[in-house]
Amino acid sequence: MAKLADDIMIRGNRVKNRIAMAPMVTFSFRGDNGSYYGRQHIEHYTDRAKGGAGLIILQATRVLGAAQATDMWSADNRRVLRQIAGNCHDYGAVVMMQLSCGDMDINQLAIDDIQAMQADMKQAALAACDMGFDGVEYHFAHGYTLCKFIDASYNQRTDCYGGNALNRTRILTDLLPDIRSSVHDRFIVSVRMGAYLPESRQGIETARAFESAGVDLLHISFGMKPPETPVPDGFICSPTTYSGYIIKKEVHIPVIAVNEIRTAEQVRFLLDNDYADVVAIGRGMFTDPAFANHVLQGEPVNKCFGCGGTIPACRWFTDHTLCPGNRLKTS
Ligand SMILES: Cc1cc2nc3c(=O)[nH]c(=O)nc-3n(C[C@H](O)[C@H](O)[C@H](O)COP(=O)(O)O)c2cc1C
Repeated sequence: MAKLADDIMIRGNRVKNRIAMAPMVTFSFRGDNGSYYGRQHIEHYTDRAKGGAGLIILQATRVLGAAQATDMWSADNRRVLRQIAGNCHDYGAVVMMQLSCGDMDINQLAIDDIQAMQADMKQAALAACDMGFDGVEYHFAHGYTLCKFIDASYNQRTDCYGGNALNRTRILTDLLPDIRSSVHDRFIVSVRMGAYLPESRQGIETARAFESAGVDLLHISFGMKPPETPVPDGFICSPTTYSGYIIKKEVHIPVIAVNEIRTAEQVRFLLDNDYADVVAIGRGMFTDPAFANHVLQGEPVNKCFGCGGTIPACRWFTDHTLCPGNRLKTS
């Protein structure tokens, strides 16, 4: 119990326990007045903060338009996002935005395209800080644009964005001094990535490159595809969750593990055995907004059914009101 309820300091921010909400797009939510974000999002994140999560990572928000304050960065969207950050703080959660660069073929991008993307990446972080978020998580996982940069087998670039780990992480690391000089000292910069890029050797090199450049937190999910590597005997979580430990052993910054963590037993197993510093709960936070409080208080959680076992089968991709585990509340 001790570890689960222990706080952890991340760049001067006190995260009150070791349970995070994983970033998850709520595809069937609608914004207000034609904007993307709206009342449904405010209620959704406020409920999870009220439910005890120490750290909340908002769903992926595309950086596109950040430099011009358009798209997801319009005034209407920002008003909602600011409210979400404030409400999460009211319930004692540390709250970060996840920033995504969509799904492009990075081998075809001209230097100008990369620089435009970097301008949006930087401005999105500054906007998140201005709206009151405690940090940002850059989405370098799941085969999307940023993931393709760091995966050594996908990235075929021969310029300064391809080749060794320093170059493959440059898309972000070059921006860090500029971001740091424009935000307050406690603003967290985190990276979500996989441990196999494509092998663990490149994953470890990449994690170390991010750490050396000043990234504060690593959230280990999967890279171009989920790992199938068997887990050691007695490890009661998935190969993706074990990936967190592969990286945690090699770095000195906190590491979040995620994927199919559904029970209090699994949460405790990961934390008590030092497989992770923090555990992130995805679909389990959909079905039980108070997942964290329930685990902390030894009460039953409203478990996710896993809908066929695969993440894309999750009803929250299509119509969240059809989620069979969502017995507590349908927003
Ligand atoms: C509906 C849905 C939306 C998701 N959206 C994102 C996202 O925006 N960014 C991201 O990095 N991962 C996303 N994921 C993956 C989750 O963050 C998490 O890694 C995954 O669901 C595994 O954790 P779980 O088994 O606890 O759900 C999404 C997953 C689901 C089910």
